[in-house]
Amino acid sequence: MEHRADPASLAHRIGHGGVASVVDTFYTRIQHHPTLAAPFGIVEDWPHHKEKLTHFWWVVLGGDPYLEVDYSVPMKHFHAGFTEPLLVDWLELFGQVQEELLPADQAEDWHHLASGMGMNLARMNAGIAERMAGRRA
Ligand code: HEM
Repeated sequence: MEHRADPASLAHRIGHGGVASVVDTFYTRIQHHPTLAAPFGIVEDWPHHKEKLTHFWWVVLGGDPYLEVDYSVPMKHFHAGFTEPLLVDWLELFGQVQEELLPADQAEDWHHLASGMGMNLARMNAGIAERMAGRRA
């Protein structure tokens, strides 16, 4: 399948194969990670998860969508037990894999973007937790 991306985008620089290999290695390692393996134990279909997350990052990085998928990012993370310490571990492992598999400039730019998204996710997660607590009070 041909994967098209805006020529000015990070997706274009990294290429679909690069995105897919980072996602593949990252989620293979996550399954044996000391703190991340447990929350990721809820994933039942790893090939599907990797395919979905490759598409997610490809589109976030500026590539054209090629799958019909719905994401439910804040609620899924709330239910998966997302915490800020887990986010620190997640970003560290993601950075290691990016540095191993990509040229330094691509690894750095993608990691920078992921860090910002992680902070947003942490804020959304705290907001959901607050609203849930309010509902129980
Ligand atoms: C920058 C940080 C992160 C990003 C951008 C991100 C992104 C995503 C996306 C797009 C999905 C797919 C959601 C869907 O299927 O609708 C997902 C799934 C998941 N994420 Fe993250 N994630 C991040 C960090 C974390 C962290 C720190 C944890 C630790 C708990 C985590 C745990 C999970 C789990 C367990 C799933 C599978 C949920 C399910 O299949 O029900 N993620 N993530």
